[in-house]
Amino acid sequence: MPAIGRTPTAMPAAIRTLWILSTVSILEAVGGSGIGVNYGKLGNNLPPPAQVAQFLARNTVIDRVKLFDTDPATLQAFDNTDLAIDVTISNDLIPNLTNLSFAKYWIQANILPYIAATNITRILVGNEVVSAADKSLIASLVPAMQNLHTALVGASLQHKIKVSSPHSLGILAASAPPSVGRFQDGYDTAVMKPLLTFLRATGSPFMVNPYPFFGSTRDTLDYALFRLNSGVVDDNTGLTYTNMLDAQLDAIFSAMKLLGFTDVEIVVAETGWPSMGDAWEVGADMDSARDYNKNLVRHAASGIGTPLMPNRTFDTYIFSLFNENLKPGPTSERNFGLFYPNMTPVYDIGILRTEQARDQQVKPMASDAKRWCVPKPDADVMSLQEKIEYVCAQGIDCNPIRPGGACYRPDTAQGHAAYVMNEYYQSFGRNSFDCDFGQTGVISTIDPSYGNCIYRS
Ligand SMILES: *[C@@H]1O[C@H](CO)[C@@H](O)[C@H](O)[C@H]1NC(C)=O
Ligand SMILES: *[C@@H]1O[C@H](CO)[C@@H](O)[C@H](O)[C@H]1NC(C)=O
Ligand SMILES: *[C@@H]1O[C@H](CO)[C@@H](O)[C@H](O)[C@H]1NC(C)=O
Ligand SMILES: *[C@@H]1O[C@H](CO)[C@@H](O)[C@H](O)[C@H]1NC(C)=O
Repeated sequence: MPAIGRTPTAMPAAIRTLWILSTVSILEAVGGSGIGVNYGKLGNNLPPPAQVAQFLARNTVIDRVKLFDTDPATLQAFDNTDLAIDVTISNDLIPNLTNLSFAKYWIQANILPYIAATNITRILVGNEVVSAADKSLIASLVPAMQNLHTALVGASLQHKIKVSSPHSLGILAASAPPSVGRFQDGYDTAVMKPLLTFLRATGSPFMVNPYPFFGSTRDTLDYALFRLNSGVVDDNTGLTYTNMLDAQLDAIFSAMKLLGFTDVEIVVAETGWPSMGDAWEVGADMDSARDYNKNLVRHAASGIGTPLMPNRTFDTYIFSLFNENLKPGPTSERNFGLFYPNMTPVYDIGILRTEQARDQQVKPMASDAKRWCVPKPDADVMSLQEKIEYVCAQGIDCNPIRPGGACYRPDTAQGHAAYVMNEYYQSFGRNSFDCDFGQTGVISTIDPSYGNCIYRS
């Protein structure tokens, strides 16, 4: 019997309750997230750092925080949390750090007092230094990083604290298709090669700030938002890209490869999407911001990697923690936050912990908590076919619905969609939004399994 015949059309009360509880995060399901936030402070209405630190540690699955400064009060606020903290040294201090004595002094004054209690794991030297196009700054970058590392070695902290520096995609001279990615001429050998040599030698990551928001048009919005789209093929490699972020990261990878550095880890130091913007800002709205960040978190946590970097994971820092009302520029700049200043979410992307998990008293789920995701009975075949293709491209094992598979028969779009939609829902943490599928999915408490075709719960 096709699974779909037993799908309830109305949502029973038990499911409605579960629906609310299902802010159960994707990441509680996958463990050790590698999901971070950028904690910017350009607002006059933001909560005190101590409150922010407790909130992040207790109420979210975020496990790392990137600061744009080395503010002592903020570093203290994160003591006794296990959140990993990245601190940033401002661009204008970089020339001073080419003096080794100053670098040693800087570590002593800004890191050593906090290191016993606060989990500082990276020192970021400036932000987007190469794009600043200030020649003396650029020339000072690697020597400054080297000196900070030497100072850390002096304090036996080089294994715990890594030195890096985030770059904008502006360091690329070419990025489309991803296989032709290369660094700007001149900077490639003068800066990027010594930088990558340093990062490799010290086991530090290369950090980039990719923003599909700034690279998308109305026509490529679905591609930028990780929504269902027809994909973009790189003719040089034959690889298909289903989202813009992968394409941007692979352009970086290609540029690193040209210089011989495919082994250096990559970290997404900033990426995000605004929930509001000026009229001319394409896609600056609540639904787009939620979809981008939700899908980003899921993609990062999946471990799928990118077409050129299969199975690689990237620590990913969402920009930004709060809407920051003092940021200059278009309206979008003040609306990149996941949270309002009163710490309520701007939208739900599944990073809040459940009450149970927070109190660490996770009880076994009641037997009626078993739930499955299946198509709505009235979902049309074309639309379900699209969902099947989409899910199978997300790293879900679709062999059971292929000829010979346990769930191949009945060979119908609804039967196959039911199987893959449920796999997707179960794999990504059983959030209500994991069973939305453009409003074609519904959560059911009835086990759709039949014969050897077993639906996970
Ligand atoms: C500090 O953060 C790192 C990276 O997430 C983690 O592996 C480590 O366990 C943390 N250390 C402490 C003491 O919490
Ligand atoms: C950095 O160097 C500049 C120029 O030499 C100097 O004016 C400034 O005081 C130095 N900053 C620190 C913190 O020492
Ligand atoms: C290097 O830094 C030390 C410590 O801050 C300072 O005393 C010294 O004057 C600096 N040297 C130069 C050439 O700026
Ligand atoms: C990626 O992981 C999958 C599943 O574990 C494996 O089959 C595949 O060979 C891996 N690919 C690479 C390039 O490591």
